[in-house]
Amino acid sequence: LDDLLSEGVSGRRVLVRADLNVPLDGDRITDDGRVRASVPTIKALVDAGARVLVAAHLGRPKGEPDPEFSLAPVAVRLGELLGTPVEIGTGTAGDGTVVLLENIRFDARETSKDDAERAALADELAAKADAFVSDGFGVVHRKQASVYDVAKKLPHYAGRLVLAEVEVLRKLTDDLQRPYVVALGGSKVSDKLGVIKNLLTKVDRLLIGGGMAYTFLKAQGHEVGGSLLQEDQVEQVAGFLEEAEERGVELVLPVDVLAAADFAPDAEHEVVATDAIPADRQGLDIGPATRELFASKLADAKTVFWNGPMGVFEFEAFAGGTRAVAEALVKSDAFTVVGGGDSAAAVRALGLPEDGFSHISTGGGASLEFLEGKELPGVKVLED
Ligand code: 3PG
Repeated sequence: LDDLLSEGVSGRRVLVRADLNVPLDGDRITDDGRVRASVPTIKALVDAGARVLVAAHLGRPKGEPDPEFSLAPVAVRLGELLGTPVEIGTGTAGDGTVVLLENIRFDARETSKDDAERAALADELAAKADAFVSDGFGVVHRKQASVYDVAKKLPHYAGRLVLAEVEVLRKLTDDLQRPYVVALGGSKVSDKLGVIKNLLTKVDRLLIGGGMAYTFLKAQGHEVGGSLLQEDQVEQVAGFLEEAEERGVELVLPVDVLAAADFAPDAEHEVVATDAIPADRQGLDIGPATRELFASKLADAKTVFWNGPMGVFEFEAFAGGTRAVAEALVKSDAFTVVGGGDSAAAVRALGLPEDGFSHISTGGGASLEFLEGKELPGVKVLED
């Protein structure tokens, strides 16, 4: 971005790809972290007199306009944060103003697997601008028209967020201080199989909590009652348990959980050991002994990466596990990185200080794929 600014952007049309994919409750943004993270780049361009056009997506609409996925509430919030009105539409921005294009995924070509279809949309986008700034770190792992293809059509630059994220995450891959501890949670073990396999070659300790822990517990031979379980992943996960042992990686699983009668904020629940989860109960959070265990395993770490909540933190009764892990990171002197929309949202929802962490990544899939050592198309295209 500094290169572009030093060339002078006054009156030039600059297309910025941002990741404004925020959680919404109706029209209300429940966590505006990604909108705030996109401000420094856009503001620098506006202040320098550029005509800024922002492209972004929201959710996964089916390639056609759908009011449920409109970026209109995001335009309002972005305008408030920038202190300048943000129009939503298809047009071109005027001097020093900002236009946010409506959800780019309303156009099926954005996410098409067909290179020619994506290139056609990229051509249309490129015709609206003189330069392209890639700043949507959360989406750089997607080979999509407004992330990847458009960079081939215009002079392209990394925005402040993309640069900052890549620099921090490189420390986790290139300049690592040990012990390196990774805490993984969240619900979908299948999304994280690749990263777990790769992490087993890198970490000293791997803590597994959240919904994905039950697939690990099952692979260890425990019954998990009505807890979330990905039956088809049990075999592969059993292989991970063996591999961890062979490699001398300490794989730490919950020893107790909060077992609830149903999935509800006020569900009746009790603390049970993980080898005694009743058939009619489901685990919705890690239990108190596990919270202590995980905190002790984080205490001497020099580097920590945490992705995924430890329980259903949206329900106050089941937020304790996530809070305990987040607090252990805040207390730690290690280099601590939080990755993933849900974990970052949890940090803010639980009222923890954002400056208690070395870095809170705006990327979920993107930060995980980075740690997996995968090439991120939206970063690679800038380097090329
Ligand atoms: C995210 O939320 O991780 C990014 O915005 C990417 O969204 P996607 O997973 O729908 O591509």
